[in-house]
Formats: sequence, structure tokens, C-alpha cells
Amino acid sequence: MSKSSEPADAEAASSSSKDEIIRGLNEDLAREYKAIIQYVVFSSTLKGAEYQDIAEQLKVHASQELAHALEVAKQIDYLGADPTVKGKDAEYSQDSRTMLEIDLRAEQETIKNYRERIRQAERAGEFALSEALRDIIAQEQDHEIDLKDALGLR
Ligand SMILES: [Fe+2]
Ligand SMILES: [Fe+2]
Repeated sequence: MSKSSEPADAEAASSSSKDEIIRGLNEDLAREYKAIIQYVVFSSTLKGAEYQDIAEQLKVHASQELAHALEVAKQIDYLGADPTVKGKDAEYSQDSRTMLEIDLRAEQETIKNYRERIRQAERAGEFALSEALRDIIAQEQDHEIDLKDALGLR
């Protein structure tokens, strides 16, 4: 049985890619909630003169992650779905350098996932979504750079 020319199948395919995007965006939103918590806590608890500048930057990251969460939740609502109310589990360390390493890993994971989401959005013809995600990923890349600088990795 040939499937490619059936309009019903094309519709089913587009709704399954939409479901995939919604599932992915809810994972992204859960990661944003986690990022907000980590940046709020880490910016308040980083110790050491060498970490004063990055502690100030982490406060800015916290606000930007909140803006990302608001944008992603709005995009999920546009797609007709419910934004998740559950965040991924936040991590914590009492060691300042370890805190920054935790944040760096989280940013890299976030960037990898937004790249995938942008590809999915473009494949599905959701161009307004992919543009919104591009704005977000540009800030995540700045966060990654701030953390690498603070860790002396650049
Ligand atoms: Fe974010
Ligand atoms: Fe970030």
C-alpha cells in the first residue's frame, strides 16, 4: 500500500512531528526551571574573590533563564499543549569551582537540545518557533562563554 500520496498520512506525519516538538519543548522548559534554581542559588553562594565577577554574571543568567522559560512556555501554549510544571532536578555543590562546572555542563546540554529543537521546528515548517529558539540559543552560548572564562577554559 502506497502511503506517500495520502493526505491523511501527511497530516498524521505533521501531527507526530508536532507532538515530538511539544515533548522536546517541555524537556527544554524543565531544563530552564532547573537553570533558574541553580543560578539563583549559585550566584548567592559562590565563595572567593576570584569568583565575584562570575557571581554577578550568574544573577544576569538567572533572569535570562526566566525569560527563556516564559518564552518556551508561551510557544508550547501556541502549539496547543500544556507547559510542564516540573523542573529537572537541580544539582548543588558547596565547592565554587564545582558549581561552575555543573552550570557549564548544563549549558552545553541545553545548547545541544535547542539545536535539535531548531532542526525539528524547521523540518515542521514552524519558523516563528525556530526564530524564537535562535534568540534563546544565542544567550545560552554567551552563558557557556562566561562560565568557560570563569573556569579558565578559554
Ligand atoms: Fe535558558
Ligand atoms: Fe543558559
